[in-house]
Amino acid sequence: MPLAGKELILGVTGSIAAYKAAYLLRELRRAGAQVTVVTTAHAERFVGALTWRTLSGRAALSDLFDPRSEEAVEHVALAERAHAVIVAPATANILAKAAHGLADDFLSTLLLAARCPVLMAPAMDGGMWAHPATAASVATLRARGVTVLEPEAGELASGLAGTGRLPEVEAILEAIHRLLTPARDLSGERVLVTSGPTREPIDPVRYLSNRSSGKMGHAIATAALRRGAEVVLISGPTSLTPPPGAVYVPVQTAEEMREAALQQLASVTIVIKAAAVADYRVKDPRASKIKSSKTEGLTLELVPNPDILKELAARRGRAFIVGFAAETGEVRASGAEKLRSKGIDLLVANDVSQQGIGFESDDNQVLLLDRWGGAVELPRMSKLQVAGAILDRVLALRAAAAPAPDPARPHRRPLP
Ligand code: PMT
Repeated sequence: MPLAGKELILGVTGSIAAYKAAYLLRELRRAGAQVTVVTTAHAERFVGALTWRTLSGRAALSDLFDPRSEEAVEHVALAERAHAVIVAPATANILAKAAHGLADDFLSTLLLAARCPVLMAPAMDGGMWAHPATAASVATLRARGVTVLEPEAGELASGLAGTGRLPEVEAILEAIHRLLTPARDLSGERVLVTSGPTREPIDPVRYLSNRSSGKMGHAIATAALRRGAEVVLISGPTSLTPPPGAVYVPVQTAEEMREAALQQLASVTIVIKAAAVADYRVKDPRASKIKSSKTEGLTLELVPNPDILKELAARRGRAFIVGFAAETGEVRASGAEKLRSKGIDLLVANDVSQQGIGFESDDNQVLLLDRWGGAVELPRMSKLQVAGAILDRVLALRAAAAPAPDPARPHRRPLP
């Protein structure tokens, strides 16, 4: 529950995209946040108060002078209690009102009273977004420290294409997490993460691959971004949306992953190789589809793929190298052997034969083995929490292994 204990205000203004705020509200609640919805009069025309009450468990507020609502006159106290105000969708009107400090309804008054972080996710017609008046409102708000997300390009409610669509709920959620996550201990770091499976072609329609969903690698990228790192995410084919803010490099084969990773190596400070790289590829993939035969078998000659992790470790320069090990039983012994043979700094071993962890699942349970002899066994937790623990360990090990200024103590004491 990454947002447990957070008190949020979700402002909803009059746009057709107001219905998407209902999905956002549901995700915020799932993440553990308590949410008070504040709507404008126009927003009520799109989505009714019952929807907000049902999803948030609280009455939605819109009228400053509602005699039935205790909260209505408490807009200042409400703003003071909030950890963040999110306005999604934010119309050109609310951007302009907030930029000019106008306060003629509940939401605009609350925005003026708020001292917590404010995030606005615009949604409007492309011409309205491009209008100099809106651009000036956005510039004013951003200069004041308000996070104004960029709307997305695509088909708009008018039927025209343009820039003005409400950002996807995942992108808004991600921005909220970053707004509320205080630890920025990876700022200045550039983290290379590999994720997902590779696909090794047999012919134009078939391939060799594995069960990796990319959840583990994407969780690491998300966690690193939240802590202020620049992230390059090299990913094999998955159905996941890349975390907003990552430099995303999609690849198919192990050869492509190797090339992309080597290209990035000189510019990164940490490498985390969560990808499940196919160990073999077909020696001669066919140019046309292999015809199926009911009578004859099929023999494919496989050749080993390059060991990307080992090559990255050998050419690491200043980068701290983390590898994963997918094991079935014998996790500690096989993991220790992989740590040594690949020449890496930290190995994250998981038992992929266990139900509910490893491939495809939302959770993982890992053992962290490092080249200084440390071993940390973590309990089962969400992949995002595992990602956080790996990053914590990288920082701790790197700090402990850094050359000390005192020449009599060339290396600090290794961590337990
Ligand atoms: O993607 P998910 O569904 O979330 O599942 C997560 C996961 C199970 C894929 C992940 O937790 C994991 O274990 N990733 C490593 C999978 C793997 O390929 O393990 P391995 O033991 O075969 O390889 C060891 C290390 O060498 C890995 O870091 C791998 O990326 C790397 N490797 C392997 C072969 C190869 N040719 N090149 C490599 O770089």
